[in-house]
Amino acid sequence: MVLYRRMVISQLISLVVVAIAAVAIADQALPPPQALPECLDHCGNLTVPYPFGIGDGCYLTKKFSLTCNESSQPPTLLWADGGITTTNISVAEGELQILANIARDCYDQTGHQGMYNFPWLWVSPPFTVSGTRNKFIAVGYDTYAVFRGYRHSPNDKARHVTGCMSVSDILDNTTTAANEPCKGIGCCQTSIPDGLKNYTIEISSYSNHIFVWNFNPCSYAFIVEEGKFTFNPNTIFQELQNNELLPLILNWEIADGSCAEAQKRQDYACKAHSKCVNRTIDIKTKPSGYYCQCLPGYQGNPYLPDGCQDIDECIASTNPCNNGTCTNSDGDYTCTCNKGFRNENPKSCIQNTPISKNKSLKVSLGVSLSFLGALLVTFWIYCGLKRRKFKILKEKYFKHNGGYLLQQKLENFDGPQAAKIFTREELKKATNNFHDSLKIGEGGYGFVYKGTLSNGNEVAIKVSKSSAPMTQSNQFINEVIVLSQINHRNVVKLLGCCLETQTPLLVYEFVSNGTLYEHIHKKNGKGPLSFGLRMKIATETAGSLAYLHYSTSMQIVHRDVKAANILLDENFTAKVSDFGASKLVPEDQNQLSTLVQGTIGYLDPEYLQSNTLTEKSDVYSFGVVLVELITSQVAISYQKPEAERSLAKFFVTSVEENRLDQILDHEIIKEGSFETTEQVAHLAKSCLSLNGSDRPTMKEVAMKLEGVLQVMAKHPWGKADASPKETDYLQLASHSKAYVVDVRGDEGEIITSIDYDRSIQIQPLMMKPYDGGR
Ligand SMILES: *[C@@H]1O[C@H](CO)[C@@H](O)[C@H](O)[C@H]1NC(C)=O
Ligand SMILES: *[C@@H]1O[C@H](CO)[C@@H](O)[C@H](O)[C@H]1NC(C)=O
Ligand SMILES: *[C@@H]1O[C@H](CO)[C@@H](O)[C@H](O)[C@H]1NC(C)=O
Ligand SMILES: *[C@@H]1O[C@H](CO)[C@@H](O)[C@H](O)[C@H]1NC(C)=O
Ligand SMILES: *[C@@H]1O[C@H](CO)[C@@H](O)[C@H](O)[C@H]1NC(C)=O
Ligand SMILES: *[C@@H]1O[C@H](CO)[C@@H](O)[C@H](O)[C@H]1NC(C)=O
Ligand SMILES: *[C@@H]1O[C@H](CO)[C@@H](O)[C@H](O)[C@H]1NC(C)=O
Repeated sequence: MVLYRRMVISQLISLVVVAIAAVAIADQALPPPQALPECLDHCGNLTVPYPFGIGDGCYLTKKFSLTCNESSQPPTLLWADGGITTTNISVAEGELQILANIARDCYDQTGHQGMYNFPWLWVSPPFTVSGTRNKFIAVGYDTYAVFRGYRHSPNDKARHVTGCMSVSDILDNTTTAANEPCKGIGCCQTSIPDGLKNYTIEISSYSNHIFVWNFNPCSYAFIVEEGKFTFNPNTIFQELQNNELLPLILNWEIADGSCAEAQKRQDYACKAHSKCVNRTIDIKTKPSGYYCQCLPGYQGNPYLPDGCQDIDECIASTNPCNNGTCTNSDGDYTCTCNKGFRNENPKSCIQNTPISKNKSLKVSLGVSLSFLGALLVTFWIYCGLKRRKFKILKEKYFKHNGGYLLQQKLENFDGPQAAKIFTREELKKATNNFHDSLKIGEGGYGFVYKGTLSNGNEVAIKVSKSSAPMTQSNQFINEVIVLSQINHRNVVKLLGCCLETQTPLLVYEFVSNGTLYEHIHKKNGKGPLSFGLRMKIATETAGSLAYLHYSTSMQIVHRDVKAANILLDENFTAKVSDFGASKLVPEDQNQLSTLVQGTIGYLDPEYLQSNTLTEKSDVYSFGVVLVELITSQVAISYQKPEAERSLAKFFVTSVEENRLDQILDHEIIKEGSFETTEQVAHLAKSCLSLNGSDRPTMKEVAMKLEGVLQVMAKHPWGKADASPKETDYLQLASHSKAYVVDVRGDEGEIITSIDYDRSIQIQPLMMKPYDGGR
C-alpha cells in the first residue's frame, strides 16, 4: 500500500515536471515564422524564408519563386525556373548559396584536347554574383584561366577580366604545395569584382599538359564561396573529376534604388522593427538596391507583414543578468540585481564591495595621491614617448627593410652613382603627400608617383601596395641591389630609396615619354612610332640586356622583359625598367631553379616547364617584344581565336607557313624596308625557339640589330621615313658600340648574404579590365 502511494506520487510529480518542461519548450523553441501563413516554409531541411516562396502567392515577386523537388533524395530546392540548385538562403545578409558548374579542360597523352566544358552563369536582377564572398580559383599544373564578368548596369558596361596561372614545380613540389596551398603551384586564386550579372570562364594550357599528364591531365577553374574549397594536391584531382558543382554566393536585394528612395514608395518592404540596408556595389556609385534586417533585439523575418519579433532574452538557458532578475522589454531587457549586488549598467550586476567609512577615506586619499603621482609620471613619460614613438617606428621599418645592411653597402660607394637614402619627409614633400594627381602608374606591385625634389629634379617614386606581403618588400630590396650595380644609358637609373616606411620606396630618374607598349599600341595619346625608331629602341634594349647578361660582375637575368617595362625618354632613348623580379646568377652557376615569375604572353615556355632560369629566358621575352614591334599586335589577346591568341605562337607558325606578309604592320613597314623587316623577323623567330640552347645570345641579337640599323642609316629609304632628328639617333645608336659601363666594386657578398631565392613567389597574375575598362 505504502509502496503504491509512493508510486502514484512519484508519477504525479514526474507528470507535472513533464508538463512544465513541455510549456517551457513550447515557449522557447517555437521559432518565429519565416514564410507567409499557409505557405510551405521548408524543402527537405532547408528553410525557405519570405520573400522567397514555393508556389503562387507565397513569394514577393516572380524572381523569388522557388520549386522543391521532393523526388530527389534529399529534396532539392530549385531556383531560376528549376535551372539552379539552391543550398542556403540568408535573409539577414541578402545572400543565396547556389551550386555552380566547374570549368574543365582535359587532354590525352599526346596533348590533344579531349573533354572540356567552359560554363557560364547569367543571373538577372535583383541577383548579382558576390565579389566579397567568392574567389576565382584555377587548379592544374599547366593551367591559365581567364574570368570575364559583366555588370550590365547603366553606369558600368565594361567587361571585367581577371585571371591567374598555375604551373608545376617539379623540383620542389611537396614543400611548396604543403606550405602555400593556393599560390601558383598547382592552384592559383584571385578575387573578382562585386555586382556581376553574367560571367564566363575559360581555361588554357601552355603545353597541353604533356609534361604533367601522368598525374594531371585536366585543368579546372571555378568561382567558389571563400573557404569552401581547399587545395590538397594528393586528393583534389580525384575530387574535381567526380564533382560537377561547387557552392557560390549570390547577393540579392528587394528592389532597385537606395533606402532613401524606397522609403518613399508604397511597396517599401521593410516591416515593423526592421531597418533598411543599402546594397552598395561600388562606393563611387549610388546603391543598386536595398534589403532589410531586423533591428538588434529582434528576430524573425523583416519582410513578413508582422515584421520582426521581440527576442525574449530572459528565457535563455543562461540568465543574462547572472546575480539578478531579468525583465524582458520590447527589443531589450533590464536586470534587477539581487541583494549584495548593484547595476553596473542596466544589463548586468556586479558585487557590492562593502568598505568601512574610515578605511574608505584613507584608501581614497591614498588612491588620489598615488593617482596624481601616476598622472604626473605618465604625462612626463607620454611626452617623451610621443617624440620617440615615431622615431622607433621609423627605425623598426628601417631595420625590417634590411636598411642597415643596405646602408652599409651603399655607404661604401661614393661618387656620382651612389644610391642615396632619402628620408620619408623628403619624398612626402616631393609628391605632395603622395597626391593622387601625381600617380603615373599602377601594377600588381604598387604605384608609381611623379615627384619633384627640393632641388627641382623630377623623379619617379615606386611605392609598394600597403598590404603587400614581405616577399614584395624583398623584391624591392632585390631591385635596389640589382640596380645599384648597373650604370647603363639604357637602363633606368635608380637614384636611391627610402627605408623608413613599412615597405621601402624606390626613387628613379623620371623618364618622361611613357612606355614602349603605349607607343606601339597607341595608348594614352602616344605613338605611332616609325620603323626607324622601333629598330633603334630594339637595338638599345638588346644592348642593355646583353650588358646585364655579360658585362656585370654577376650575371643579371631580368625575368620580366616586356614592352610595358621599356620606358622612353623625350629623345626616344629606351630605358629598361622594373627589376623587381630580376635574379643575380653567381658566376659558378649558369642555371638557377626558381619559381616561375613573369608575364603571360612573354614567358619562356621552357622556363615554365623546367623552372630553370637562364639568360635565354630573357632572349625569348625579347623575341616577343621584337615581334610586337614589327606587327604592332599585343603579346596576348583573349579576344582572338585560340590559334592567334599568343602572338609568339601565331608569329612562329606564320613564318613557318610563309605567311609573314599577313601579320606585319604595313603602316609602319614601307616598301623598301621589307627585306630588313624579314631579317628582323627571322631574328625574332630564332629568339622564340622552344629550346633555349637554339636561341641566340643577347649579344648576338644586339649585334644583328646594330647591323640592321647601320644598313638603314645608309639607305635613302631608311632616312626618308625618319624625321631629321630621328636619323641622328640612328647614327648615334649605331656608333655607340661601347656600352657605358661602370661596375662599382665586387658586390659578391651582398648578393650571397641575402637569399631571396626562397622568398620570391609567383604572384597571381592580375589583368586590369580592358575594353576601355571603367
Ligand atoms: C540537412 O540534410 C542533409 C542531408 O540529409 C544533412 O546532411 C544535413 O546535416 C541536414 N542539416 C541540418 C541542419 O539538419
Ligand atoms: C527531381 O529529382 C529527380 C531525382 O533526382 C529527377 O529525376 C528529376 O528530374 C527532378 N525533377 C526536376 C523537375 O528537376
Ligand atoms: C546558411 O547561411 C547562413 C548565413 O550566411 C550561415 O550562418 C549558415 O551556416 C549557412 N548554412 C549552411 C548549411 O551553409
Ligand atoms: C555576357 O554579357 C555580354 C554583354 O552583353 C555578352 O556579350 C556575353 O555574351 C554574355 N555572356 C554570356 C555567357 O551570355
Ligand atoms: C612530386 O615529385 C615527386 C618526384 O618527382 C613525384 O614522385 C611526386 O608524384 C610529385 N608529387 C606531386 C604532388 O606532384
Ligand atoms: C542609402 O544610400 C542613400 C544614397 O546614397 C543615402 O542617402 C542613405 O543615407 C543610405 N541609407 C542607409 C540606411 O545607409
Ligand atoms: C554571481 O556573481 C559571481 C561573481 O561575479 C559569480 O561568480 C557567480 O557565478 C554569480 N552567480 C550566478 C548565479 O550567476
